[in-house]
Amino acid sequence: MLTLAVETSCDETAVAVLRGEREVLANHISSQVEIHKRWGGVVPEVASRSHLEQVFPLLDIALATANIQLAQVDAYAVTNGPGLQGALLVGVMLAKTLALLTGKPVVGVNHLEGHMLAVRLEEGAPQPPFLTLVVSGGHTSCYVVRDYGRYELLGATRDDAAGEAYDKVARLLGLGYPGGPVIDRLAAAGRRDAIEFPRALLHSGDGAVSFSGLKTAALRHVQANGIPSGSGLADFCASFQEAVCEVLVNKLVFLARQSRVDELVVCGGVAANSRLRSLGHEMASGAGMRLTFPSPRWCTDNAAMIAVAGYHRLRRAGPSSADFDAVPGARLA
Ligand code: KG4
Ligand code: ZN
Repeated sequence: MLTLAVETSCDETAVAVLRGEREVLANHISSQVEIHKRWGGVVPEVASRSHLEQVFPLLDIALATANIQLAQVDAYAVTNGPGLQGALLVGVMLAKTLALLTGKPVVGVNHLEGHMLAVRLEEGAPQPPFLTLVVSGGHTSCYVVRDYGRYELLGATRDDAAGEAYDKVARLLGLGYPGGPVIDRLAAAGRRDAIEFPRALLHSGDGAVSFSGLKTAALRHVQANGIPSGSGLADFCASFQEAVCEVLVNKLVFLARQSRVDELVVCGGVAANSRLRSLGHEMASGAGMRLTFPSPRWCTDNAAMIAVAGYHRLRRAGPSSADFDAVPGARLA
């Protein structure tokens, strides 16, 4: 079975071809980061236009890389939410049109479900049930994946997503967009205990997290001491990163104990973070749990993860009609 997937929910245009559940024949991504950098964030109107320009060449390249003709594709999968309305529409219209022209099924995939099932692209990945923490630019939520298509929300951020906190603090420090990778890199040379940033809701006894206080503390620190540079910048980044990662990992382990699931997955763009990965492995193994991270390329936005999620949906529900829309505020559970 060949699944062709399209992802255009935010600032990455992506097309992938998947054979079966995990053989990625093609995976192409065109990032708009350079375009949005000037504004320090994603500009919706600009994103839609850029998707429209990029998606057709990417489709051609993906078919060529996979060495297949469009007629050989068995099914289409496309992100239909959550995301930016105009951006989502580009992918949804393309996938529906291709399915209509070729007489093949098409499924709408929730972007979060894509992140959560991306781990299935890895050899030896866990099967449901597993607990998963989705940490990206738009989301910080923990779910139990009971089975494919059966998700239970256990906790989420009350305000900013973890990636959003990284991006905002990076902007405050004049480090550009996206902030996560830069802070991650600078933090490597810093002292994690140099600045005592707050760990909100660490012991709240539920799945809630909050990053707005941390953001404010970072701002206050800069207002009082100026924008750090040199080793001060490295210390600032390491201390900020430690606060984010400590909260995330503690919540994950807490929720795992509470729900008696010892198979854990962390996914989404922030899951590419080196400290989150090391601290996560350390704490999970200390608690007798197994934690898996998808490799970094499957953590950040891509279309292969949408293909896996689409593959499972089709297997479960059978061929479906194209009766879905782009839903900017789509919810999973
Ligand atoms: O999943 P993703 O590619 O897009 C969304 O669905 O949001 O996640 C993007 C987010 C951005 O906020 C970016 O700063 C963050 O993931 N990110 C990181 C790292 N790489 C990407 N955050 C921390 N450390 C990283 N290494
Ligand atoms: Zn994402």
